[in-house]
Amino acid sequence: MATSLTNLVSEHLYEQRIRQDSLSVEKLATTFAPLFQSAQADALQEALVSSGGEMGGRLMIIDEDGKVQFDSFSQLCGMRLQLPEVLSILTGGQSTAYGIHHLEGGAQALTANAADEYVAYCAASIIGTRGRLGALLFVAPVQEMMTSLQNVQQQLLRVFVLVAAAALTVALVFSQIITKPISALTRTIQKMGKGDLSARVTVRGSGEMRQLAESYNTMAEQLERLDRSRNQFVSNASHELKTPLATMKILLESLIYQPDMPAELRAEFMQDLNHEIDRLTGIITDLLTLTQMDSRRMELRPSMVNLSELAEETLRLLAPAAEQRGQVLTGSIQPGCNLVADRSKLGQIIYNLTENGLKYTPDGGKVSVSLHTDGRTAVLTVKDNGVGIPKEDQGHIFERFYRVDKARSRETGGTGLGLSIVRQLVTLHKGIITVESAPGMGATFTVKLPMDGKEVSGS
Ligand SMILES: Nc1ncnc2c1ncn2[C@@H]1O[C@H](COP(=O)(O)OP(=O)(O)O)[C@@H](O)[C@H]1O
Ligand SMILES: [Mg+2]
Repeated sequence: MATSLTNLVSEHLYEQRIRQDSLSVEKLATTFAPLFQSAQADALQEALVSSGGEMGGRLMIIDEDGKVQFDSFSQLCGMRLQLPEVLSILTGGQSTAYGIHHLEGGAQALTANAADEYVAYCAASIIGTRGRLGALLFVAPVQEMMTSLQNVQQQLLRVFVLVAAAALTVALVFSQIITKPISALTRTIQKMGKGDLSARVTVRGSGEMRQLAESYNTMAEQLERLDRSRNQFVSNASHELKTPLATMKILLESLIYQPDMPAELRAEFMQDLNHEIDRLTGIITDLLTLTQMDSRRMELRPSMVNLSELAEETLRLLAPAAEQRGQVLTGSIQPGCNLVADRSKLGQIIYNLTENGLKYTPDGGKVSVSLHTDGRTAVLTVKDNGVGIPKEDQGHIFERFYRVDKARSRETGGTGLGLSIVRQLVTLHKGIITVESAPGMGATFTVKLPMDGKEVSGS
């Protein structure tokens, strides 16, 4: 760019010079023509010297044979000059010719300063009354112009190098700024890929990079939470399974190592064993239900379900257990509550809630199940007057394995999975479940299910 720019500038300067010099030389050639023709040597020499001095160069008159006749420096008279410009006039027949030359190999310049490296020749034909008489040659000192042009070129080159260096530095800095957060993110992702789920990127800057970092961190948090809850789930599940197994082992060992155990005690142990097996089966069934729902393999088998009948059925199923403990289990069921749903899953919802009501209500207590509908939403309420649930626990009872009173729940055969299954089943049916309770005041669970398949909104 620097070179082409200086070339442009120098071309412009040359052109100007050519035009100026050519004009002057042509004019002079016509002025000198009569003097040359009439061979007024002194007058011509004088005119040459004064005009040459005015133009700041050297003027020569060369005859048709190429011999110098007059020289404003009075040095080369009688010599032959083989200059291309002169030749193109004398033999080429041109009226003017111009050229700038770089003198190489120690050639002496025809200018005042013999050491000049650049020189320009401008020649014009001298036309007399009988045709061409010769050529007027002007030797222009262009050394200064060329030197300053070279200086400009060097300076421009320097500027361009500086600008290029600056641009490169800026580009490097910017690319560093841009790639730094990306490589930080990459490092973090690699760390995470190796199993460190706690790895986070530092969010800084603004715009897309910030958004990316934030989204990444949110995703990482989600993953970590998921990982933690899965670990917790596995450890809770193992713990739940271990308890009945330990009990069974003790019972079995007693049976093995005490062969002379009384028959009634033996029968009792056997019954306990059977009970523990039931418990294990219950836990495993619940776990399977949960994992099925987790992996979204849980398929609803929708059909037209008469929820009223289903509720009555469930009440009949649990009536004997209630009777055994002297509890009053009542139902207030609005008949003909039909909706499209998975029958067995709805049955599980009612069963789990009612069973909980009976379980967490002392002997002789009351549990009432009610069902009514406004045509769009079916509302199922299970209300008891049992132990109730403290406020701080109400937010957790739908979590897996969460039990308010661990000891009592285990005693009654609970796993802490029932309500979490209920909530997932309700959600699967696009319904909502809420609880209202206070310690010692009983608990009321309300399930709202949409009858038109659309989501139930609000509470
Ligand atoms: N009707 C209720 N009255 C009082 N507490 C309840 C009732 N239903 C559930 N809970 C509390 O919520 C916990 C979770 O219930 P659930 O998931 O069914 O587990 P489980 O019945 O196996 O203990 C229970 O351990 C109990 O503390
Ligand atoms: Mg339960």
